[in-house]
Amino acid sequence: MTAPRIDLPGAQSAGRRIAPPTLWDPVVRLTHWGIAASVLLNALVTGGGSLIHVSLGWLVMALLLMRLVWGALGPSEARFSAFPPNPLSALRHLRDMMRGSQRDYPSHNPAGAIMAYAFWATLAVVTLTGLVMTGGATPMQVASDKAAVASGDWSALIREGRDDAGESPLGEAAEEVHEVAANLLLLLAALHVAGVFVESRAMRRNLVAPMLLGERRK
Ligand code: HEM
Ligand code: HEM
Repeated sequence: MTAPRIDLPGAQSAGRRIAPPTLWDPVVRLTHWGIAASVLLNALVTGGGSLIHVSLGWLVMALLLMRLVWGALGPSEARFSAFPPNPLSALRHLRDMMRGSQRDYPSHNPAGAIMAYAFWATLAVVTLTGLVMTGGATPMQVASDKAAVASGDWSALIREGRDDAGESPLGEAAEEVHEVAANLLLLLAALHVAGVFVESRAMRRNLVAPMLLGERRK
C-alpha cells in the first residue's frame, strides 16, 4: 500500500506534491554513506590517533562540510528549510505514527530531522576535538614526514601532537570530550537504525531504498 500524499498550501500553489523523495540526490547519498562508514570504522576499528583514523576523520570533515553547504544550495528536499529542527513536531509525529495517522513530509520527517541535526552537531564536536588533539596536522603533513615514512610509525607521529596537546588542560578536555562524543555517535547510530526500521514498518514505506538506489513508486 502506498502511503497517502498530502498537499501543503505552499506546495499546491507551486504545483508540487508533498512526499519524501523516492531517491535522495547523489550528494545526500554520498555524504550519508561516507560519513556512516567512516564513523563506524573510527569508533570501532581504527586505532585512535593513527594515520588511518585521522585520515578518515578528515574525510568526515570534508563530507560534513559538503552536506552543510548542500543544505543551503541543494535541491529542495535536501535543504535545511525542508526539515527544520522542531522537537514538538517530532513528538507529534511519533504520537501520530503510533496512532497510525502520520502525514507525509517533503523531506525527513520531524523525528528524522532531529536525529540528523543531532548527528551533525556531535560530528562537529568529534572532529573539532580531534583537530585540537592533533594540533591541526593534516594527513598529508603526516604522510610527507620522512621520519614517519621511514619508520612506518604513523601513530607515533600523531600521538606526539596529541601528547603535546594532552599536556594542556584544553588538550586533556578535548580527549575526554572526543571519546564521549564518539560514544554518543554510536548511541545515536543505534537509535537511528532502529528508528529507520520502525518507521519503515509503520509507514509501510522502505526508507532505506531511497538512500541507496531508489524506490519504484507503484
Ligand atoms: C569522525 C569521527 C571520529 C570518531 C568516531 C572518532 C573516535 C575515536 C575514539 C573512539 C577514540 C578513542 C580510541 C582509543 O582510545 O582507542 C579516538 C581517539 C583519537 N582520535 Fe578520534 N574519532 C573521530 C575523528 C577524529 C579526528 C577528525 C581526529 C583528528 C583530526 C581524531 C583524532 C584522534 C586522536 C589523536 C585520538 C587519540 C586520543 C587518545 O587516545 O588519547 N579523531 N577517536
Ligand atoms: C554511524 C552511522 C550513521 C550515521 C552517522 C547516519 C547519519 C544520518 C544522517 C545525518 C541522516 C540525514 C541525511 C541527510 O539529510 O543528509 C541520515 C538519514 C538516513 N539514514 Fe543514516 N546514518 C548512519 C547509519 C545508517 C544506516 C546503517 C542506515 C541503514 C539502515 C541508515 C539509513 C538512513 C536512512 C534511510 C535515512 C533517511 C531517513 C529518512 O527517510 O528521513 N543510516 N542518516
